[in-house]
Amino acid sequence: MTDATHDIPKAILEEAETLRSELRRHAHLYYHDARPEIGDAEYDDLFRRLQALEGQYPALDSPDSPTKRVGAPPQDKFETVEHVAALLSLDSSEKPEDFIRFDERVRRALGDGVTPRYILEPKLDGASIELVYEDGVLARAVTRGNGQQGERVTENIRTILTVPLRLRTDARPAPKLLALRGEVLMYISDFADFNARMADAGLEPYASPRNSAAGSIRQLDSRVTASRKLDVLVYDVLAVEGDSFTSDIAGVEAIREWGFRVPERIQTATTVDEVLAYHSVYEEQRDELDYEIDGVVVKLDDLAARRAMGATSHHPRWAMALKFAPRQEVTVIEKIDIQVGRTGVLTPVAWLRPVVVGGVTVSRASLHNREELRRKDLREHDTVRIQRAGDVIPQVVEVIEHHDDRSPPFDMPDRCQVCETLVIEDGPRLVCPNRFGCNAQLKGRIIHFGSRSALDIEGLGEETANLLVDRGLVTQLAELFDVTPDQLVALEGFG
Ligand code: IVH
Repeated sequence: MTDATHDIPKAILEEAETLRSELRRHAHLYYHDARPEIGDAEYDDLFRRLQALEGQYPALDSPDSPTKRVGAPPQDKFETVEHVAALLSLDSSEKPEDFIRFDERVRRALGDGVTPRYILEPKLDGASIELVYEDGVLARAVTRGNGQQGERVTENIRTILTVPLRLRTDARPAPKLLALRGEVLMYISDFADFNARMADAGLEPYASPRNSAAGSIRQLDSRVTASRKLDVLVYDVLAVEGDSFTSDIAGVEAIREWGFRVPERIQTATTVDEVLAYHSVYEEQRDELDYEIDGVVVKLDDLAARRAMGATSHHPRWAMALKFAPRQEVTVIEKIDIQVGRTGVLTPVAWLRPVVVGGVTVSRASLHNREELRRKDLREHDTVRIQRAGDVIPQVVEVIEHHDDRSPPFDMPDRCQVCETLVIEDGPRLVCPNRFGCNAQLKGRIIHFGSRSALDIEGLGEETANLLVDRGLVTQLAELFDVTPDQLVALEGFG
């Protein structure tokens, strides 16, 4: 609260303070302890009463008021800010041998006869975030960015109900400065619903729960973020002033006491076998979780030993991620056809009987080029094993079954099937050379132009690009800017 509060009647000040602490307590009971004491309607009444008081007395304004969770007016852009401490990456491998070598290095560093103790955690596949608290109040939240600097997305993170706007202090006092690292997640079950609604609204769906979490915290309008269901699990104390720990496990305990959610099943281990067992149990049970993990993280628990081992510019020497093999599923190739991309390359694509791979429905896979198609001998109606790792496009690994009356091998065309131009060879690839006359290339360029990695134009996805080109409204990329509102309204789905 600001100095201007002396104009406010004492009873009002007290009521606002009581409402805030009650709202915090009830939110914690609901989201962290799963044992609410009041119903939603009662909670909403308290919330609206506080909103009314804050509306009537603007001097009551406070960045950690529970009313700040509904979102703030849109911003023009995000500010780039320095992290309190670098958000490093992790050295990672899928091979147990690499972990054994890591363990040997750690033992050498610790010296004769010292047994390392490791802390084991799931490797959450979400969007990394830094949370900074000053005197117990959330001062800023920053995306990972390049590890040194990231974007300030505080307004968006405030809308996530499990992130305390003010540290809980009943078990442990708030330190002067606290910087934490965690992962923003969208649960798989929420992702499926959310993405279906995006598609219904004619918006470009997200490729994975991770993309969706990352995209949601980078919204300039925090009310959009507020409308999405996100969670943050916190696993690391990046920096603390006014408190101290000697082990990571003690840091995690403090994180929990300050009111955050932490990853499930954190444990410690002192032998290679225990670590590998943890990895395989988590890998087996991966499908039972409502969030994506792509491995487990193994970190030396002793903080003094960590300092002694140090870090490279990229990752600490005292931690490593032991990844899981990519997720695989079996399905059938319903059809093989060709896609002409924005650079004119003809890519064979397998249309698959839709199959859910780790929470994401996969219905097509890239077959890369004709060499790969020939080498794997993939044909229509074959039963195949496919895999999806992280955000990469799903791949067909191998054929596992085909009928006796098998389809003939797929023949690459000698003409672009869209503009009929004779294709040319470029190494293993076939290319349509009709750079400015091929509508497939034009559509590809428009889609790229509107995509999240380019200008991020909402609503300019595949469907719209197809309509604009097929109706002749755009015959070259620059004409995108000449499309009039009247022309758009006339297209189906606009209005
Ligand atoms: S520790 C310096 N623990 O994995 C060590 N990272 O490349 C800092 N991640 O983007 C990382 N779960 O955001 C750590 N339990 C966990 C994690 C975790 C997910 C992410 C992290 C980073 C990536 C590492």
